[in-house]
Amino acid sequence: MEFPISRMRRLRRTEPLRALVRETHLEPNALILPLFICPGEGIRKPVDSMPGVCNLSVDEAVKEAEAAAALGVGGLLLFGLPETKDEQATGAWDDNGIVQQGLRALKQSSAAKKLVLIADVCLCEYTSHGHCGIVKKSGDDYEIENDSSLELLAKTAVSLARAGADIVAPSDMMDGRVAAIRDELDEEGLDQIPILAYASKFASAFYGPFREAADSAPQFGDRRSYQMDGANLREAMREIDLDLGEGADMILMKPAMPYLDVIRAARERFDVPIGAYQVSGEYSMLQAAFAKGWLDPQRAMLESLLSIRRAGAGFIVTYFAEEAAKALG
Ligand code: PBG
Repeated sequence: MEFPISRMRRLRRTEPLRALVRETHLEPNALILPLFICPGEGIRKPVDSMPGVCNLSVDEAVKEAEAAAALGVGGLLLFGLPETKDEQATGAWDDNGIVQQGLRALKQSSAAKKLVLIADVCLCEYTSHGHCGIVKKSGDDYEIENDSSLELLAKTAVSLARAGADIVAPSDMMDGRVAAIRDELDEEGLDQIPILAYASKFASAFYGPFREAADSAPQFGDRRSYQMDGANLREAMREIDLDLGEGADMILMKPAMPYLDVIRAARERFDVPIGAYQVSGEYSMLQAAFAKGWLDPQRAMLESLLSIRRAGAGFIVTYFAEEAAKALG
């Protein structure tokens, strides 16, 4: 049927009409807020490259969690800034590590009943060299060892689950880590803890601001020997397939906006819950434009989140979680 019988504008005339035919919706409870927990008390240290984001001491993280819960945000993704770093990433798997302390405090708070507490499982914030696995050096050469890293990652996941994580989310991109983590969790009686695998994680320039927030920039080299090449969609499908085969309960796609086609392909192929991470650089570039007055903050924020939902993500990890929940509320 063609014009003038078809007139697409008929259903766009009023907001109630537009709402009736809207295909994609944003809900605060499908937004996850990342938090960076640091030592100390009463600390809210702003991250320069991420306006509105702070490193929070445990007490402040609890306050932030309560505010997020009151806004209807669905959950938190926790990262840690340890007091000290070493080659074995002790701070990651230590039962007294910073995120473990945070989890115990959050579990005691009223926010815990409303929020899903997700613990990121990785070594890069805790290793002195900033890589996501164990580094083996020989002369000027180095190698990020896969198999020896698995044991530490599994130990980290168990420690975080014991401290109160509702979900563990490995983001390191070592081969076999989902199976190693599932094995160790089950052995420790933690068989009810789901694994959210960062199955499709690309080596991306858009993680830049995060590395300031989490103090996790690699001291040498880059992450291209373990994170995926941005050119490869088929490889992402294989990564997801493998992680699901190893027992991942849900998958996380990352970054989001520069990889919407990968999210769409995953949605069409895999019948598991899929989340997407709107990463630090995606957030910061929008914030930079807001600061210049170049974009309408609320509309651009919601449109960016909507694009990720429309691509097929069921839930979104985003530094805008609280702002978006406010705007949607
Ligand atoms: C840890 C990790 C990173 C991010 C999430 N988990 C950093 C990295 O891989 O370098 C990035 C998140 C963001 O940019 O917001 N491996």
